[in-house]
Amino acid sequence: MKANADAHDIAIGVIGLGHVGLPTALGLADLGWRVVGVDNDAAKARLIASGEPPFYEPGLGKLLRKRLDSGDFSVESDAASAVRQSNIIIVCVGTPQREDGSADLSYIEIAGKTIAANLNGYKLVVEKSTTPVRTAERLRDSIRRYSAASGNGAAPDFDVAVNPEFLREGAALHDFFNPDRVVIGAARPRAAKLLSRVYAPLFQRAGKPAADFTLITDINTAEIIKHASNAFLATKVSFMNMVADLCEATDADITHVARGLGLDHRIAPHFLQAGIGFGGYCLPKDIKAFERVADEHGVDFGLLKEVGRVNDGRVDRFIDTLSRALWVVKGKTIAVWGLSFKPLTDDVRDSPSIGVVERLLRDGARLRLHDPQAMSEFAKRFPADPPALEYADSPEAAADGADAALLLTEWDDYLRMDMKAVRGAMSMPLIFDGRNLLHPDALRAIGFEYYGIGRP
Ligand code: UGA
Repeated sequence: MKANADAHDIAIGVIGLGHVGLPTALGLADLGWRVVGVDNDAAKARLIASGEPPFYEPGLGKLLRKRLDSGDFSVESDAASAVRQSNIIIVCVGTPQREDGSADLSYIEIAGKTIAANLNGYKLVVEKSTTPVRTAERLRDSIRRYSAASGNGAAPDFDVAVNPEFLREGAALHDFFNPDRVVIGAARPRAAKLLSRVYAPLFQRAGKPAADFTLITDINTAEIIKHASNAFLATKVSFMNMVADLCEATDADITHVARGLGLDHRIAPHFLQAGIGFGGYCLPKDIKAFERVADEHGVDFGLLKEVGRVNDGRVDRFIDTLSRALWVVKGKTIAVWGLSFKPLTDDVRDSPSIGVVERLLRDGARLRLHDPQAMSEFAKRFPADPPALEYADSPEAAADGADAALLLTEWDDYLRMDMKAVRGAMSMPLIFDGRNLLHPDALRAIGFEYYGIGRP
């Protein structure tokens, strides 16, 4: 796509080029805006500038190289210079979890400080990082304060808006270009209008009326929409995992229950898959941060504690099933299929596989791990240590001679295995499917003992 006809007065800076910042920056560049991305990790910035994304995300490398070549996207490691070049600054820095569960907002503050010191004209500061409600207010106050302290003189001319991201890892570009909604939290119409202009080409391209997909709110409401969205998704998953336990106790089938529930359009079929629990960098941390912010404001959101508690128990329950079936785990060879927290990513942060591997190593099993993308990330935490822990080139190689195979991530690759050959190569034909991906009847017909989640 060629640059926007009206792109001359908008220059966008994106601070933080992680799983949210990089797809967002490239998506905006693809819409025709001039975008400069900045990351304070100089090695990472260099890698991106050379055309290599620092993590696996479908389509990202291709779009990165296209937009670097076209000159619509450039990379810096100096945030001050990026701020000075831009009039819209999108903050996509991390908000990691602190020990008490609350969000660490220090990177947001640092971004605000840099912006305050470089206010060389009107700036729209857009908070895209996931933050507890009232963070944008604090960011606005702190930019004002730092700007006064830096002796800028005249009252600084800027707005703070909140524009939460709803990008799933593994589908980030798809979600950027096909959003269910664009939420804009703004205190002043000028900010809402400017940000709406930024997204206008997205809707023009898709032939959709922007008004049907854009929600303009105040800044606090926009922050709550983001946290509540992730908390609600997590609640759906934990709810289904409890129903799965009940199915297991009553010979019912959770996959049919999920279908039955999802046909009700008020419930919808998404996020009803029972399994070994939700992981990743967002859902587990966001439910804790949301619960903490509720606590701080005197609201007892006990429901979220329960959602977390249910999720925390999933791995142990899964290993208990395995241990009952194997009888003795010590010395057994176990294949592990899938390490990333979900398919189509190499991200292993808060992945249920970490708990599974830790527990099985403690119990004295010998593990053979496989994942189509995430083995090198996983090996940073669990280096190969034969014979206790080895990495296999293929799922079949992981299963060769194994006493059991565990499926932890629902990669399509695991549906493409020749299961008869796998059956022949394993020393004991036991499969524990933590994602209900495989077909129990077909597996049993060829001699496997199959254990799913919430299936008879
Ligand atoms: C999540 C949200 O879905 C995005 O909308 C949001 O933008 C993002 O967090 C964020 O805040 O940045 P993501 O963490 O990429 O996206 O992953 P999800 O697709 O939400 O999956 C989270 C976990 O839930 C995975 O471990 C997945 O396996 C698990 N899950 C999901 C289930 O166990 N069952 C389901 O039915 C669905």
